[in-house]
Amino acid sequence: MSQVIVVASGKGGTGKTTVSTSLALALVRKQNKVLVIDCDSGMRGTDMMLGITDRLVYDVSDVISGTCNLEDALYECSGARGLYTLAAPISAEDEISPQVMKQFINEHKDNYDYVIVDAPAGVGSGFESAAIAADRALIVVNTEPISIRGGVNIKDKLTQMGINDIRLVINRFDKDRFLSTKLYADLDEVIDTVGVRLIGLIPEDVRISALSQRGLLATNWASSSVVFDSLVQRLLGNDIGLTVKL
Ligand SMILES: Nc1ncnc2c1ncn2[C@@H]1O[C@H](COP(=O)(O)OP(=O)(O)OP(=O)(O)O)[C@@H](O)[C@H]1O
Ligand SMILES: [Mg+2]
Repeated sequence: MSQVIVVASGKGGTGKTTVSTSLALALVRKQNKVLVIDCDSGMRGTDMMLGITDRLVYDVSDVISGTCNLEDALYECSGARGLYTLAAPISAEDEISPQVMKQFINEHKDNYDYVIVDAPAGVGSGFESAAIAADRALIVVNTEPISIRGGVNIKDKLTQMGINDIRLVINRFDKDRFLSTKLYADLDEVIDTVGVRLIGLIPEDVRISALSQRGLLATNWASSSVVFDSLVQRLLGNDIGLTVKL
């Protein structure tokens, strides 16, 4: 049975698109067929991170409006067979409504093992469209109070929407910075403040940023593979330890 996972955060720039694409790549490495749906209308990014921008012609709004068939708007990532992406509309005005998105995802999800939905920041209508068909959610935060508060807002909204399988991803973790800013006593305080169980701790890593921004994640995944492979293990319910030393 297929699983729909939304990747969300209250604050912008926490790493949702990086986590969505890296997680999708890790799932494909485990022989899963994965669809990434970019729901960040007007600010899409998964196409760039997955290196398909040069080929991109159609987006999800073209499929829904009947301008093209679904097959025309599905782009397989050349570095990762079995990983497909559906781009968000280039203009925010073409954002897909929650009800239409729900119907669309429910109609097509069974063709994939996983559907990863990259949400826009915040709790607006774009977030609702991204989350509405989700079976489970990942909230991405950085270890800063504004980001954590955004995480709490997202958790509350997801819960209101009836999504209860929610896990926390702490991204861009830098131990020295974390300790020296003294914003939190320890990571448990971060986790307790959001009130969501941790599933992944992703380090600040310039290689992740450099590769994703160049669209090279799929072909040069080795640098980030360990953390995302273990995130997949935890998604599957395997109780394995964190890969980042505290
Ligand atoms: N673990 C990491 N290490 C270093 N840089 C990272 C990491 N994760 C993300 N980044 C960088 O942080 C920036 C924001 O990442 P990303 O675009 O994934 O965030 P986002 O939450 O999707 O943003 P938005 O809210 O605008 O959609 C990018 O420059 C990205 O390369
Ligand atoms: Mg994004």
